[in-house]
Amino acid sequence: MRRILVTGGAGFIGSAVIRHLIRNGQAEVLNLDKLTYAGNLASLASVADDPRYRFVQADICDRAAVVRVFEEFRPDAVMHLAAESHVDRSIDGPSAFIQTNVVGTATLLEAATAFWRSLPEGSGQRAAFRFLHISTDEVYGTLGSEGLFTECTPYDPRSPYSASKAASDHLVMAWHHTYGLPTLITNCSNNYGPFHFPEKLVPLVILNALDGKALPIYGKGDNIRDWLYVEDHARALCRVLECGRLGETYNVGGNNERTNLEVVRAICDALDRLQPARLAALGLRSFHDLITFVQDRPGHDKRYAIDASKLCGELGWRAEESFDTGIVKTVTWYLENDWWWRPIREQKYAGQRLGGGKAG
Ligand code: NAD
Ligand code: DAU
Repeated sequence: MRRILVTGGAGFIGSAVIRHLIRNGQAEVLNLDKLTYAGNLASLASVADDPRYRFVQADICDRAAVVRVFEEFRPDAVMHLAAESHVDRSIDGPSAFIQTNVVGTATLLEAATAFWRSLPEGSGQRAAFRFLHISTDEVYGTLGSEGLFTECTPYDPRSPYSASKAASDHLVMAWHHTYGLPTLITNCSNNYGPFHFPEKLVPLVILNALDGKALPIYGKGDNIRDWLYVEDHARALCRVLECGRLGETYNVGGNNERTNLEVVRAICDALDRLQPARLAALGLRSFHDLITFVQDRPGHDKRYAIDASKLCGELGWRAEESFDTGIVKTVTWYLENDWWWRPIREQKYAGQRLGGGKAG
């Protein structure tokens, strides 16, 4: 049984990874998470009592705490997901992104390297040790109407968030080349699915619609993202950790390009079908009537699209969920799990405009 240290395991993707690892009986997991506004242990309720799961509340920038975790847990692998992740918040306050995404990643790399070097030379544990850094397609910048991001696309980050993630990717590559740390990097497109914090487009639109509030679309709604169901991402990460070639980068994407307007319309279609009583109670004909075009995000990247052929060809991974099935599953999950999102909407974030734009 592998011992895996997951950072950011109380977040959207980290919690999906931990649920996947525990459900599939592959590992003992230690979740190291600071529990920022985005961290939520409720997302791990289904595994919290499993003897193979443990939680430590700590900041990845806290060197002493991180070193202690390595010494006590003695991981076989690290899956590093802890990050500030929301582009709009990075526009309002970039320094938290530099601190966690850059300084935190460097701190984690130093602790991981010291631990890895302390393992006996020639030992199986030293040979098997892995550091998987989870990153984003946003490091590649923005695409025109043609082409896909490959692992060779030059870095061209354009928001404080993507710049901080690009910096963290460069640190990981530097640690591999300079110190020989056995690293892997993944760059993934937009995820969606259960337990997604409702500041991001998909859950924000679902919950605003249920409240009868405006569904804010930045600009004309013609920006394009490449959507991947979060459980497909979790499977891809486990596959890369087990079989990826050291020092390599793997792009992860679902081949599901949609304009933002198409995404919001798909959510409205699902809600019109699943929530006729709510529609009537709100006095609406259709949830589509709530769509509202608002001021654009500053520096809004036009299009992201991933070429995942390296991951598919080398490691045999495939996305199982199409956007059309995944979005209905996601809407249904939010309808059935208000115990999870209602406290967030009431106590942490009610859906107000972030990122410097006007509300409407
Ligand atoms: P999230 O915001 O939902 O979760 C981030 C988690 O990290 C939270 O639990 C938070 O408490 C924790 N955290 C933040 N700062 C920390 C610190 N200093 N120390 C310890 N823990 C800290 O993010 P997510 O959407 O789950 O993204 C996870 C990773 O995947 C990020 O690195 C992100 O860049 C990357 N990614 C996300 C997407 C996406 O669509 N969401 C796509 C590609 C890549
Ligand atoms: O591409 C991967 C990235 O996807 C991840 O690295 C980020 O962590 C993740 O947050 C996501 O970034 P985006 O900026 O693409 O996601 P977001 O959900 O914030 O926005 C998706 C698109 O929808 C984007 O073009 C902006 C637009 N948008 C967003 C919000 C919140 C709106 O039109 N209205 C909104 O209210």
